[in-house]
Amino acid sequence: MRITLSESTWDKSTADIVALAIPSGKTKLARAFGRIEAVIGKGGIKRLASDERFEGKASQTLKVTAGGKTKSRWLLLVGIGEEQDDPKIAWSMGHALASAARAQKSAAVELPKVTPDSVRAVSQGLVAGAYRYTEYKSDKAAAQTLTSAVILGARKGARGLTAAVRAGKALAESVNFARDLVNRPPNDLNPVALARAASAESRKLGLSCRIWNKARIAKEGMNLLLAVNQGSAVEPRVIHVVYKPARPKKKVVFVGKGLTFDAGGLCIKPAGSMVTMKCDMAGAASTLGIVFAAARLKLPVEVHAVIGSTENMTGAKAYRPGDVYKSLEGKTVEVINTDAEGRLVLADVLTWSARKLKPDYMIDHATLTGACMVALGPWRAALYTDDDRLAETYLAAAGAAGESFWRMPIDGDLRSSLKSSIADLKHIGGRYGGSITATLFLKEFVDEIPWMHLDIAGPAFVDRAHGRLPKGGTGFGVVTGVRFLESIG
Ligand code: BES
Ligand code: MN
Ligand code: ZN
Repeated sequence: MRITLSESTWDKSTADIVALAIPSGKTKLARAFGRIEAVIGKGGIKRLASDERFEGKASQTLKVTAGGKTKSRWLLLVGIGEEQDDPKIAWSMGHALASAARAQKSAAVELPKVTPDSVRAVSQGLVAGAYRYTEYKSDKAAAQTLTSAVILGARKGARGLTAAVRAGKALAESVNFARDLVNRPPNDLNPVALARAASAESRKLGLSCRIWNKARIAKEGMNLLLAVNQGSAVEPRVIHVVYKPARPKKKVVFVGKGLTFDAGGLCIKPAGSMVTMKCDMAGAASTLGIVFAAARLKLPVEVHAVIGSTENMTGAKAYRPGDVYKSLEGKTVEVINTDAEGRLVLADVLTWSARKLKPDYMIDHATLTGACMVALGPWRAALYTDDDRLAETYLAAAGAAGESFWRMPIDGDLRSSLKSSIADLKHIGGRYGGSITATLFLKEFVDEIPWMHLDIAGPAFVDRAHGRLPKGGTGFGVVTGVRFLESIG
C-alpha cells in the first residue's frame, strides 16, 4: 500500500473514500455532524446516523455517500467513543478504513491529531486492516484491496512523519507475514518450507538464518523433537534467525512452536479438531514476525528467533504413549498422550536457547493447549512467568498493542501430577489446569534465565473476524512483542 502525507483537508480530498473520527456523547456528536453537513448539505448525516443507530461509539462505523461540495464518493464515519489516546484512535481509524474500503482504490483519513505516533498507528492499522489471504484464489478480483491512502492534515516538513509511516507499515507487514504463514495450507507449508520462508525473508533483511536438518538436530541431542517427528514423512527443522544491532541494550530470545500440522499422532484428533491444525505453527510465525519487525524498525535490542518445527503425524514409526525419551536437558520423559507434542518440541528448544544464547529474557509463543481456550475464551492469550516485572512490562506492552493477555499462575501445587513411575517425569498432568501443567512441564527445561511462556492457542487463529483479528491466522503477539522490545530498548 502506498501511504502518503498531505496538508489538505477532507472536504478537498479526491480520494474515493474519506474517514472521519466521530466522538460519542450528545453535544460532541451533534457538533461533528454539523461540521460534516456544512460541507455535504443539511440532513445528509443526522437522519442516516439515527436510522443506523450510529452514535459515535467505539467500533461503530457508518459508510455514507458523500456528495455536496466534496469530491469523494464515500465518507466513512468512524466512532471513537470517548477515547482520548491519539495513537489508539488513529490505529482504529486505519483499520476501519481499510476494511470498509474493499472496493475502493484510494482512501484518505483525517486524524483528530497528526503526530508521529498517530501517523505510525494509522499506517499500521491501514496495512494490517487491508490484509486478505488470497494466495490460493484463482479469481484475482477477490484479491482487491486498498492500494493507496493519504493521511490528511500533515504539515509540510513536520518532523518524523515520513519515518512514522515507514515504521507503521513495517510493523503491519511483519504481522501480515505471520498471517500468511499461518494461513498457508499444510501440504505446502511443511517444516522444510517454513525454514525456506524464514531464510528467504532473512536474506531480504540481511539477517543471519541458520537451519538445522534432522541429522544436525540428532547430533545436538534434541530427542524430544525427534520423537514427535517420527510419525512424519517430512524432516523436522530448527530455525534460528538473529537480528543484532551495533550496540544492543539487551538480548531477547523468542522461541516458537512450529508444528506445521498437528494430527495428534497416534492419539489422533477427531476430524473436527484437526481441520484447523495448520495453525499449530502460529507461535513460530509470530516469533519470526517479531524478529523481522525488530530488524525493519532497527530496534536497539538483539533479538533471536528459535523455532522447533515438525509435523505430528501417525506414520509407521510414530512415537507412542508409553515411550520414554531422554531430553536435551538430560531428564527422561514418559509420553502419555502423543497429542501433547508441543511441549516436547519446546522443551528441547528452550533448553538449547537458554544454554547457548544466555539471553536477558526468553519468551516463547505456542498454540499449546485447548485448555487455555477453555479458561480464557478464544480471543485472549495466557501469560506465564515467575518474573513479576517482566509480566508487568509485557502486559503494558500488550495494552498499547491492543492485544489481550491474561497472567496465569504457575501453580506449583500441580507439579506432582507430572510424576512418572518409570521416568523423571510425565509430559502431561491430570484433567484440570491443563494450560498450567503444560507450563510446569516447560519450566523443567529452563533454569535461571528469566522466562515467559505465552499460550496463544485461542487468538492465533480465529474462525471469524473479531475486533482487529481477521478470520484465520491473526499474527497475534507480533505487535506486543515489538512494543515490549521498544519499551526495554
Ligand atoms: N495444538 C494443540 C492445542 C490447540 C488446540 C491449539 C486448539 C489450537 C487450538 C496441542 O498440541 C494439543 O493437542 N494439546 C492437547 C493436550 C492434551 C492432549 C493434554 C489439548 O489441548 O487437547
Ligand atoms: Mn497436539
Ligand atoms: Zn499442537
